[in-house]
Amino acid sequence: MEIIHTVAWMKQVAEEARRSDRILGLVPTMGALHEGHLSLVREAQKQCSPVVVSIFVNPKQFGPSEDFQKYPRAFEADRAALENLRVDYVFAPPPDEIYPPGFRTAVTVDGLGDTLEGRSRPGHFRGVTTVVLKLLEIVQPRFAFFGRKDAQQVRIIQQMSADLNLDATIVVCPIVREPDGLAMSSRNAYLKEGDRRAAGVLYRSLEAVRREVSTGERNATRLLASLRRVLDAEPAVSRDYAEIVDADTLEPVMALRKACYVLLAARVGNTRLIDNALIEQAGDSFTVTL
Ligand code: PAF
Repeated sequence: MEIIHTVAWMKQVAEEARRSDRILGLVPTMGALHEGHLSLVREAQKQCSPVVVSIFVNPKQFGPSEDFQKYPRAFEADRAALENLRVDYVFAPPPDEIYPPGFRTAVTVDGLGDTLEGRSRPGHFRGVTTVVLKLLEIVQPRFAFFGRKDAQQVRIIQQMSADLNLDATIVVCPIVREPDGLAMSSRNAYLKEGDRRAAGVLYRSLEAVRREVSTGERNATRLLASLRRVLDAEPAVSRDYAEIVDADTLEPVMALRKACYVLLAARVGNTRLIDNALIEQAGDSFTVTL
């Protein structure tokens, strides 16, 4: 496994792979890798060779009061996990390799990034799209792999990719969960023991929606009421938002339609967590994927 620290070197390696007709895959990460990230890597390895995993804690996607400085960094453990999976390349640039002095450009996808996570974290998606576009430009992969846990992020990246005619196919992979259903996230490491136990309620609240949908409920207000009954009963958890939105426009819906997300964000202790369920119409019924 080769560890690459500079843009020039990464571009050269990627260019050589493309010239020899190899199918390059990119898994962008901010490190502190968990089973969710590793599942993206395994999926990338099924479809691509070589696979590049980028590790870059992107300062531009953290607000001034957010956790950039204390965001978990675990390079040696990440390297060992990726070596174990026989990943070909790790792209781990220092901050000024991605944002050299004088860097001024930002990428904004209008509309989709102002609500939900965007409302709670102004500027977050602008930082995400800026770095993702840079990574896609540097590596120019045929496929790039993202987790569905960050559903709004994925939708915005898909929109950017379509709008800018990017060549990479954006592959969306399932959420990987802990045994109690908690979606895997690098931020789970912040949870103290009691909060970790309480955090399982996010999944249970999405399960409540799944149960209601399976009994025929289609009304978004009533589905969200079921979710809130479960979530708000846990005193250690404070809800930021819970909404049912169209999967394409991310606008709230009154009733279930072809494809929707239940999107959820809550604070557990000092840690902000997100989760979601995808609801898709299949004939007369709806399937809910957690
Ligand atoms: O999902 C993440 O870990 C980050 O937002 C990403 C896509 C690696 C960009 O920094």
